[in-house]
Amino acid sequence: MPLYNDKVKQKAGQHGVNKNVLVTGGAGYIGSHACKALALAGYEPTTFDNLVYGHRSAVRWGPLIVGDILDAQALESALRTVKPIAVMHFAAYAYVGESVDNPGKYYRNNVVGTLNLIEAMRDYSVSQLIFSSTCATYGVPDFVPIAESHPQNPVNPYGASKLMIERMLTDFDAAHGLRSISLRYFNAAGADPDGEAGESHDPETHLIPLVLDAAAGPRDHITVFGDDYGTPDGTCVRDYIHVSDLAEAHVLALRALEDGAKTTAYNLGNGRGFSVGEVIAAARSVTGREINVLQGSRRAGDPPMLVGDATRIRRELGWEPRFSGINDMVSSAWRWHTRDHASALQPTSLSER
Ligand SMILES: NC(=O)c1ccc[n+]([C@@H]2O[C@H](COP(=O)([O-])OP(=O)(O)OC[C@H]3O[C@@H](n4cnc5c(N)ncnc54)[C@H](O)[C@@H]3O)[C@@H](O)[C@H]2O)c1
Repeated sequence: MPLYNDKVKQKAGQHGVNKNVLVTGGAGYIGSHACKALALAGYEPTTFDNLVYGHRSAVRWGPLIVGDILDAQALESALRTVKPIAVMHFAAYAYVGESVDNPGKYYRNNVVGTLNLIEAMRDYSVSQLIFSSTCATYGVPDFVPIAESHPQNPVNPYGASKLMIERMLTDFDAAHGLRSISLRYFNAAGADPDGEAGESHDPETHLIPLVLDAAAGPRDHITVFGDDYGTPDGTCVRDYIHVSDLAEAHVLALRALEDGAKTTAYNLGNGRGFSVGEVIAAARSVTGREINVLQGSRRAGDPPMLVGDATRIRRELGWEPRFSGINDMVSSAWRWHTRDHASALQPTSLSER
């Protein structure tokens, strides 16, 4: 049975206007930043997270329900208790390599878990959802920057699981009027500028925290996979988006749904790419430390350039990134990385479920 924070039960219906939002995966990296953005915008986020990768201490802007999206009864109970006007759905597994080795784990958690969620939403008449989709639904790009109209041909089970969810969401709108906005993120980066939230994945696979680990000490070098691509400095180029800009886009998407927006999907990226070499140079400049680089060979399946076109969300929802420079992202991540308590944010053990 899920554990309930006492505040949850007091929340729903306490105020004249219901501003409750259920945030699955709100104890994770992006979800915790979204909870802060929701709270700043006057919403009342309640996190629903099994803490398998999340952190109890990251839940600071509303109550926590410890529960699993694979547990339909726990979801129903949360919807009954919180009575949310909308759900923001971050809970998922997101390790691409692991998804190739163990696809069942990904289809179960991501697809079956989401099916439980949207069936519970249908049954409890919660009809607005913001979904964390990914640029991995596009696969290897035919052209960059990648617009939403680019064909979606995922090349790994993680991307495929997210594409299946987008499809389910379209069908649930047609059949049940559950309106949703899928946000296809490129690479989330950086940390809350006030230092109140940040990235603490274990294992960590994202470039910026790995480079910062090489600057701070726990890692003695960073390996760069390929320096002979047809990019300006020969290293791979990726689109990084500051996590606080991402979080704000979720609030805009929620407002759009409240104003009656139809089910759709938007890219969320910076619109410009940074190479691995540029990220390392920014980290050297921000940290003032030497970072040892080992040159590795290309990895199979790594496209030279992945850059998203986020024109549509800018135009239709008025989204404007505030922290689009690589130095903004690396310096906020570095402040988080070197905070005393950051190392204390280890994933909570399964026994806390
Ligand atoms: N980080 C990125 O760059 C990126 C890029 C594209 C898409 N995304 C998507 O954004 C979302 C959030 O990513 P993140 O980097 O914050 O990941 P994260 O691992 O930090 O957060 C995910 C959270 O979901 C929780 N969770 C997982 N399975 C659950 C389950 N069955 N029931 C309840 N909670 C569960 C975890 O405990 C964790 O707190 C994911 O859906 C991911 O696929 C992330």
